Amino acid sequence: MILVGPPGSGKGTQADGVKDEFGGAHLSTGEILREQVKQGTELGKQAEVYMKQGLLVPDELILGMVKDRLANEDSFILDGFPRSIPQAEGLDRMLTELGRPLTAVTLLDVDDEVIVKRLKERGREDDKEEVIRERLKVYHSQTEPMLAHFRKQGLVESIPAEGSVSEVQALVTDRLQDRRAGVAPSLGTAIPASYVQSAPGVLAGDLLASIDGHVAAGNAPYPSAWDAGEVTASTKALLSQHPQATLPALAGAAKAFTLDELEGVKTCARNEVAGGVVGALGGAAFVAGGLMQTGALSGVGSAVMLGGLAALVAGVGFSVYNQVAMEEHRANLQGLEGTRDLLESWQARLG
Ligand code: AP5
Repeated sequence: MILVGPPGSGKGTQADGVKDEFGGAHLSTGEILREQVKQGTELGKQAEVYMKQGLLVPDELILGMVKDRLANEDSFILDGFPRSIPQAEGLDRMLTELGRPLTAVTLLDVDDEVIVKRLKERGREDDKEEVIRERLKVYHSQTEPMLAHFRKQGLVESIPAEGSVSEVQALVTDRLQDRRAGVAPSLGTAIPASYVQSAPGVLAGDLLASIDGHVAAGNAPYPSAWDAGEVTASTKALLSQHPQATLPALAGAAKAFTLDELEGVKTCARNEVAGGVVGALGGAAFVAGGLMQTGALSGVGSAVMLGGLAALVAGVGFSVYNQVAMEEHRANLQGLEGTRDLLESWQARLG
């Protein structure tokens, strides 16, 4: 499998989890290059010039470096390779020669500003803000366009990767397990109809009508998973409910809904903290009001106590409400995760 994502999205961290769960050799081109730099080899000296600036090391150096290592392993987790279209094409050639197919290309989706904050805290040699921003620029201009290459093969799994390490790990391993079993992603949550707009492309209705033909033509694994009854009922329901919508429109709607839900999680997390702060201040005022219940201040003390109690109840209530809402947004995200890639891979297969 391949782990891809912007710098600092957690590729190395998640590779360890995947290795523990499924085995396989962890090949990180970044780590290999840093080792070469440390040993002062010819390759290390050439690579260092690019790495310091946050640029990609030239494709031919990388491809040469990876080739022998792949040949020596039965299964592998590629971390940070490939990173450009020529590298992706080079990898395809190597895998064909070795007779080893890819299971998945797992894309860790993290916002640029979250990345900058994370990496500044880590503080590796190339984690200075201007170098981080250059690495992000290189990612958007050279690595992101490469994803189309793997989307056409129906291999990409997008994972919202701003949660905790264990939350992201659960999503990554669940999707890999399903891939290995040939099961399509679950559409646990229906995309609201208001998101679906028309765009040129294959109609969902056509897909439903012609799916048997595509299975017969050997378009594995998703269409065959559909045929075998492994595609979840809610996936079928979604496509049946929107037979006039095109697959790109459904994929776009899934993306828009996912982003909204992600935003929902973030807003609820902020509100939960704000509610907690108001509640804590209210609690403090309640106690302070209690202490003022003496002599001339007793009237003021009662008012402070009442105000404090109201703030305590409102703050805690607001916090709990947001906690519950956040769980709902999280559940929707889990249900939708993988949806866009599933729809795009069908679109690519059906032309
Ligand atoms: P490389 O080492 O691959 O760097 P990178 O892609 O910039 O990625 P990082 O290693 O910084 O991050 P990561 O995504 O692995 O995240 P990590 O798990 O470490 O490459 C370095 C350089 O080498 C490149 O700039 C280039 O010059 C060259 N290079 C490498 N491969 C190349 C190729 N194929 N072609 C050409 N050039 C190549 O996590 C980052 C931090 O975030 C850690 O502190 C971690 O603890 C934390 N973290 C992880 N997950 C979470 C989470 N969920 N929540 C909070 N914190 C988290």
